[in-house]
Order: sequence, then structure tokens, then C-alpha cells
Amino acid sequence: MRVLSGIQPTGKIHWGNYFGAIRQFINLQSTPDQAYYFVANLHALTTIRDKAVLEENTLGVVLDFLALGLDPNKATLFVQSEVPEVSQLCWLLLTVTPMGLLERCHAYKEKKANGLTADAGLFNYPILMAADIIIYDSDLVPVGEDQLQHIEVARDVAARFNHLFGETFVLPKGYVLDNSAKVPGTDGQKMSKSYNNTIQVFEEQKQLRKKIMRIQTDSRPMEEPKNPDECPLFQLYQLFGDEQGIAELREIYAKGGFGYGMVKGLVADAAEKVFGPARERRAEWASKPKEVREILDAGAANARKKAKEVLLRAQENCGIFPPK
Ligand code: ADP
Ligand code: TRP
Repeated sequence: MRVLSGIQPTGKIHWGNYFGAIRQFINLQSTPDQAYYFVANLHALTTIRDKAVLEENTLGVVLDFLALGLDPNKATLFVQSEVPEVSQLCWLLLTVTPMGLLERCHAYKEKKANGLTADAGLFNYPILMAADIIIYDSDLVPVGEDQLQHIEVARDVAARFNHLFGETFVLPKGYVLDNSAKVPGTDGQKMSKSYNNTIQVFEEQKQLRKKIMRIQTDSRPMEEPKNPDECPLFQLYQLFGDEQGIAELREIYAKGGFGYGMVKGLVADAAEKVFGPARERRAEWASKPKEVREILDAGAANARKKAKEVLLRAQENCGIFPPK
């Protein structure tokens, strides 16, 4: 079974991205028959129009993956644009994609509903994503719920191509990541870049503490017993998963007589324990650009081997002469 997923390099990763996606990707890296993870820089080009920012973010996500435990000996890690076959397959798929299918896709629909003009790149974005998936004969695509619609599009388009030209592509399935506990941001609503309420995974220690101390809390008196499951601070603490600590904190909430400052201190300590060593590993990888480049070259070479095979199958089946 092949697992594949991609992350757009649109900014610094936050706790929501880690717990909601990246940590789970890394847990799936030992899937027999290989996991493929890539940085979707071609997709990011629909929103980032600054060369230096796009380049820096792209390598940044690679460092994030490596620092957080992605093992290039287990999973294939690469940059989307370094597999040019994806863009070639994208065209073949576009020729069998009904306009209506793309008109219903949410990124484009929302932009239009807000009165903004969309580029053709944004409109066709789901088909580039379909090519990303189909070109490796991927079976399973772990994603956040917001991306499920795009996996359905990939499945529809692959099935349509198969119907028109004969059995060519594997039909992929989406697998919704467990983000049942949506990670709350510093204002209590879902953590998201768009709400400006994020805590970044690789925040410097001092800055990290400062941010945690600024998390909004209610103004009920200290003595009052409180329900931990309604408290974003408790939810954040839980993410770091020290079972005994969680049980003890639960009791403290139920009894009352504690200050939120104390809980913030616990969250900060727990975060430092997990992300402190990752921060050091990231700095280490950042100081070895040659090795990182080698990992990406090997990842792209491995991915391309499969991509070439699937692209050729598609070209032959629909009557397109492949380059000699
Ligand atoms: P943002 O909302 O900050 O723009 P993205 O949409 O780029 O984040 O997130 C990429 C992935 O990270 C999502 O598909 C989702 O799986 C995960 N994710 C983002 N924010 C959260 C959150 N607050 N809680 C859980 N998962 C999240
Ligand atoms: N569109 C995805 C996102 O914004 C990123 C992505 C691009 C992707 N290609 C993919 C995810 C292929 C899974 C499979 O999160």
C-alpha cells in the first residue's frame, strides 16, 4: 500500500499543523511499500509571488519534516517541482475534467463568492493535486478534512480517464486525519494562520513562553472548580500526552483553587520537552545544506522512477507519443 501526502510551504508551521497533520504523517512513515511526502511548492505559487519567500519556505518545510522525525530511509521526501512528470500528467487529466467539477471546488468557489478574481492556477489546483496523487499509484492519502473534496476529484478524474482509455490509474482513497481535538489557538478558536492566533512549532524558547502566557483565559475566581474539557489551555496540555500529568491536572481543575498562570507554565514545560530537541535538530539540519540536498535528490529520483512509469502508461493509453 502506498501512502502519499503533501504540504504547502505557505508559512511557518504551527501546533495545529503538527498535531493535526505532520505528526500523523510521520507515524505512517513505516508503511510497507513506502510513504511519499512532498512539499507542494507548485501549489504554493498560486498564493506566494515572492521568489525568496517561496524558496525559503520550501526548504523550511523540508527542515521541519526532518527535525520532527521524518526518516528519509523509511519515507520518500521530495519537492513537488522536482518531479516534472506531475505537470505533464496534469495536462492529460485536465483534458478529461469537466468544468463543473472544478467550479464546485471550495477554494475557487469561496474566492469567487467573496468577489475576488481567481487565476486559472487556483481554478485548476485540484487537478494538479490529482496528478500528485495518481502519478505514484497512491492508495491512501492522509489529509485534513478540508482536503477530502480534492481527493474525491482525483478519484473521479482517474476513473474517467480509465473509462475513456482503459485501465490506467489506481483509484486513491482519502484518509481523514484525526484532528477531532482541533488544536485551539491563543484566542481559543481553531489555531490558523488566517486568525493570527498561532503558536509556531519552532518558536524560540523565550518567545514560546511569552506567547503561551498571552493565551486568553476566562476571569472566573481561582477557587471555582472548572471543567477541563472546556478549557483551551487544558486541551493544549493534553496534546503533549503525559498521561499521568493529564490525570493530575484534571483533578486540579475539578477541585478548583488554582491559577491559569500555573497551567500555562505546565503547557510551556511540556511544549519545550517535545519541541526543544526538535528545534536543535532543525538547527543541525539547517547547518548541513549539502546533506539536505542529497536527501531531496534521492527522494526526487525515487519518486520520478514511479512517476515516469505511470505517466508512460497514461501517454500510451491515450495516444500521446512520449518524448524519446
Ligand atoms: P492554516 O489554517 O493555518 O492555514 P493549513 O490549512 O495550511 O493551516 O493546514 C494544513 C493542515 O494542518 C490541515 O489540513 C490540517 O490537517 C492541519 N491543521 C491546521 N490547523 C489545525 C488545527 N487548528 N487543528 C488541527 N489540525 C490543523
Ligand atoms: N492541497 C493540499 C493542502 O493545501 C496540499 C497538497 C498538494 C496535497 N498536493 C497534494 C495533499 C496531494 C495531499 C495529496 O493541504
